[in-house]
Amino acid sequence: MSIHTIATTPFAGQRPGTSGLRKKVSQFQQPGYLENFIEAIFLTLGDAPASERRSIVVGGDGRYFNREAIQTILRMAAAHGVARVLVGQGGILSTPAVSCVIRKHAAFGGIVLSASHNPGGPDGDFGIKYNIGNGGPAPESITEAMFAHTQALTSYRISDGGPVELDRLGTSRIENMVVEVIDPVADYAALMARLFDFKAISALFAGGLRMRFDAMHAVSGPYARAILEGLLGAPAGTVVNGEPLEDFGGGHPDPNPVNAAELIAHMEGVDAPDFGAASDGDGDRNMIVGRGIAVTPSDSLAIIAANASLAPGYAGGIKGIARSMPTSTAADRVADALGISCFETPTGWKYFGNLMDANLVTLCGEESYGTGSHHIREKDGLWAVLFWLNLLAVRGESVEQIVRAHWARFGRNYYSRHDYEAVDAVAADAMMTALRDKLPDLAGQSFGRYRVALADDFVYTDPVDHSVATRQGIRIAMVDGSRIVLRLSGTGTEGATIRLYLERYEADPAHHDIEPQLALAELIDIAHSISGLRHYTGRERPTVIT
Ligand code: G1P
Ligand code: ZN
Repeated sequence: MSIHTIATTPFAGQRPGTSGLRKKVSQFQQPGYLENFIEAIFLTLGDAPASERRSIVVGGDGRYFNREAIQTILRMAAAHGVARVLVGQGGILSTPAVSCVIRKHAAFGGIVLSASHNPGGPDGDFGIKYNIGNGGPAPESITEAMFAHTQALTSYRISDGGPVELDRLGTSRIENMVVEVIDPVADYAALMARLFDFKAISALFAGGLRMRFDAMHAVSGPYARAILEGLLGAPAGTVVNGEPLEDFGGGHPDPNPVNAAELIAHMEGVDAPDFGAASDGDGDRNMIVGRGIAVTPSDSLAIIAANASLAPGYAGGIKGIARSMPTSTAADRVADALGISCFETPTGWKYFGNLMDANLVTLCGEESYGTGSHHIREKDGLWAVLFWLNLLAVRGESVEQIVRAHWARFGRNYYSRHDYEAVDAVAADAMMTALRDKLPDLAGQSFGRYRVALADDFVYTDPVDHSVATRQGIRIAMVDGSRIVLRLSGTGTEGATIRLYLERYEADPAHHDIEPQLALAELIDIAHSISGLRHYTGRERPTVIT
């Protein structure tokens, strides 16, 4: 085997965003494209001295191009002095499992191959993300350095060794580098068994609790089967669509009531199971559904926080909570009641890393179906599902009873997100610019029964490293706690996506049964009249409402 230096042209790619680099598969298949990005990762990390015995973790969500990309990454890792690579069997590792394996094996970092919930297959998307030694997404300083390398590099280094057998557990070599094919589920399952009361949850299944977990033909299938049906004794068939497919069965593996409509329909049917859940392409998102009730992610975070001490891994209580800015303030109310802090961060899981590393927060959540804790440094779909199962087991109540009891105690935060996808990017920018200009005049203004308490473009100063993130979204907070938030998506692949987030606080249980779009109707009108969204985009209604 030998190592080659191959000439290449700099990479004409976007900056890797909060979720790494996401592009069409066809783009990744262009000669040198994948190699350029991987070279930029290794140049940023710098070659390790042999004495460091540096190891990295590699795995993906099983989408089309996963196996090919892994073989290339392995050959390039061998050419850059990596001593050992841990790869999931079959190239499979969910995003939370990568985080778990990095931490457990004290790896230097990890490469996650996924475009999360974006469609897969030859015509779909592919993605690459680098995670650092704490198991979490690389911070901006590192992703910026990678981007700079992609613009400047003129060659990449690769071994002509391999390919490595990915389907058999065990070790092999490329050059001096050891490749260890590991069970993708084992370390993750062991961690879950330490955090949750597996005995109580098993008893719940033995007692007849019926559950439906929709893996949406994506990576969480093998994890859910091994843990729910294997370790916890749920009946076979509890996990549906459990086989990861290269094109996710043609579906859109994003667990929300729109994309997981089949699960929602099931949970509303006459023979609905007691508990329903779904996860996304790479296994980091979750949706929680009870019989006839879908729990909003913002409520789920607040409910988990309020009940955290019921799960063994959190029996000592929680330190603090962090939520992304557009996530509802339901968690803030719980934090107040518990006397702990609640941090508001920009959108994207990477902002939680420092807070968890500094032991300032235990639980984190985003409205976009992401929930997690300091057990790893990524959001974790199955973790949230197991948390809910633990709550059902200990409280002996249904999902709906738990949610209603929470609203009765803390009040209900009606919540909805309206997405306007693939709108003209210039029009979207013009709308945001005009809105920013209006902000100084909004405070104190009244709109019907709402009076604006605060209007700004969210700026976040990290309490740990004091880095500042500006322009993180428009917040318009009303005196009664209701809010309107507007921001542009950072993950869309076509034009711009405008996200409008709406939240109305209602303390009185007599008013906890309004259909959310109705409850929010007045705020929706106010948001449109302030932003001129329809005027700028020419769109009458959102593409997706969740
Ligand atoms: C979306 C979600 C955000 C999440 C990100 C990655 O980003 O809104 O909460 O962290 O995907 O999963 P956006 O497209 O809004 O920038
Ligand atoms: Zn994901």
